[in-house]
Amino acid sequence: MQRILIVDDVELNRELLCNILKDDYIIEMAENGEQALEKLQEYQYDTSAILLDLQMPKMDGFAVIAEMKKNGWMQRIPILIISSEHAVAVENKCFELGVSDFIHKPFESSIVKNRVKNTMELFACKNQLEQKVEEQEETLKKQYRIIQMQAEKLREARPFNRLMMEYRSAIMEVETRLNVLNAEFSQEYNRNPFESIKSRLKSPTSIYEKLERKGYPVTVESIKEHLTDVAGLRVICSFPDDIYRLADLFVKQDDIILLRKKDYIQNPKTTGYRSLHLILNVPIFLSNEKHYVKVEVQFRTIAMDFWASLDHKLKYKRDVDNTDEIAAQLKACADSIEELDYQMQEIRNKIDKSKG
Ligand code: GTP
Ligand code: MG
Repeated sequence: MQRILIVDDVELNRELLCNILKDDYIIEMAENGEQALEKLQEYQYDTSAILLDLQMPKMDGFAVIAEMKKNGWMQRIPILIISSEHAVAVENKCFELGVSDFIHKPFESSIVKNRVKNTMELFACKNQLEQKVEEQEETLKKQYRIIQMQAEKLREARPFNRLMMEYRSAIMEVETRLNVLNAEFSQEYNRNPFESIKSRLKSPTSIYEKLERKGYPVTVESIKEHLTDVAGLRVICSFPDDIYRLADLFVKQDDIILLRKKDYIQNPKTTGYRSLHLILNVPIFLSNEKHYVKVEVQFRTIAMDFWASLDHKLKYKRDVDNTDEIAAQLKACADSIEELDYQMQEIRNKIDKSKG
């Protein structure tokens, strides 16, 4: 049987409550706050609920709550206030302090029984859930530590480092070729087909995570075979038609091999994401061989890049409220951005034409 502590300065009240509950619980009783705290000290891990009066001599109910809070007992033991007080302000204050429920005088046997039973059950459920969440967080942390350790091992291996060097070289190769195109355009036509290029090499941790997630072995060969985005570049253009022109010119270069084209501008993702992705095989020239290396190049407009970074934040930030609402807002923004991008392009066309 679970133990309940009844705290009230009026003996009749204590007796009444004791009679109602004694068949179902072990009952402890206290006449004031001080006695209540003594009992709690004695049975702190073995008290399943407190029925607490507010007005008492020596130490009142509020002081008991404050002391319980200080000792961290509120998380373990639900408090039900027994009171003749019907003032809303007092009840609200009690709820703000963290009490679970109210039982009003005069006591009605079945109501008292049900309230005590429900409160204890709810409290136990809440505690179990909290414990589960804590356990899951701990498991996640452990898994992350394992991933970090494995990634560290990967980082130390020579063939892995050699492969990363090749990916880095491929990024430089693509960057140079795009910069050459940009230089030519600004010389010949007085305009730049892109605004900026960003590049990144996937971190060992992300490489490990992705291989694990997709069920591939964690080996250097497997990285080469299964991952297409270890070397990644993002080309930010002003206008949508620059994207296609630049991508076409780049793919036409006779030693670039197009492995896959994903046109999320013509076919936007459900999130609203719009970009042109090219998965390429790019040659790099090493001391005694020519190697083809996979590179992912994402082309998007300035406005879409701004959008994507905000969208990315939503995906990776935990504990964001109203995610559905934010996702819907983001989708609406992406659609407006598309309209705006094409309007700006039209304006640019008009300006270009009027030059004569
Ligand atoms: P990943 O495993 O994420 O690489 O996906 P995938 O291999 O299925 O390829 P996909 O073409 O779907 O996405 C490749 C990359 O495009 C992602 O890693 C992101 O950088 C970007 N991306 C794709 N969809 C979205 C999106 O909805 N929002 C944002 N911000 N980026 C996206
Ligand atoms: Mg990716």
